[in-house]
Amino acid sequence: MVGRIIAIDGHASTGKSSLAKKLSNEFNCTHINSGSMYRAVTLYMINNNLIKYIKSDTNYLISKLNDVKIEFRKDGGKLKLFLNGENIEKDLNSLVVSNEVSNIAAVPEIRAKLVKLQREIDRSNGIIMDGRDIGSVVFPNADIKLFLTASIEVRAKRRYDELIKKGANVTLNDVIYNIEDRDLKDSNRKTSPLIIDDDAILIDNTNKTISDQVRMIKEIIQSRFYN
Ligand code: DC
Repeated sequence: MVGRIIAIDGHASTGKSSLAKKLSNEFNCTHINSGSMYRAVTLYMINNNLIKYIKSDTNYLISKLNDVKIEFRKDGGKLKLFLNGENIEKDLNSLVVSNEVSNIAAVPEIRAKLVKLQREIDRSNGIIMDGRDIGSVVFPNADIKLFLTASIEVRAKRRYDELIKKGANVTLNDVIYNIEDRDLKDSNRKTSPLIIDDDAILIDNTNKTISDQVRMIKEIIQSRFYN
């Protein structure tokens, strides 16, 4: 995988990150969950009482971007996301953050800052990056592009189970609403909307386990890189 790039895009809660993590372990390469970067900016804006300006004074919110430092640091052999020097990964997947993140991700100046950071990450070991615009914008020349989708029922149930396991107080309907709302906003925003690239491999994982998907993608990787 040395120097190779795999882009995994797709709808919300299709298991992109879990899949990317497993593949990166198998192939000993770097995994970046780009959604966590948009979530970190959102968390900063929520914690600093700035999220209220997202619609009313977007320029003011953008002016605060210089105070947001996002970096990945090696911790136990894995890259962990730090926001202004603090590991905040455990706070990123709450429904409070999920409910705001698509609005944050629609702001072109925020996207520009994060895309620049994504392109600067060391790719020498090979990189698997998941998100919404990785194959279309961040790495249009990626070696392999995958696009994941699944039925809304299956996606919502997976995300709901995850949140309940973490002790969150949510209903399945809250989760369905959030996922549908994010898909709609992510696919219809002006800057870098979620699209299925012409050269992406479409995977509907409604009835596929993560092991099925890993097996299938390992075969694609083997045939493209090692034959
Ligand atoms: O992958 P995720 O659900 O954690 O992503 C959170 C949000 O961030 C998602 O609703 C859309 C946005 N996002 C984006 O616009 N571009 C990316 N490359 C990754 C995520």
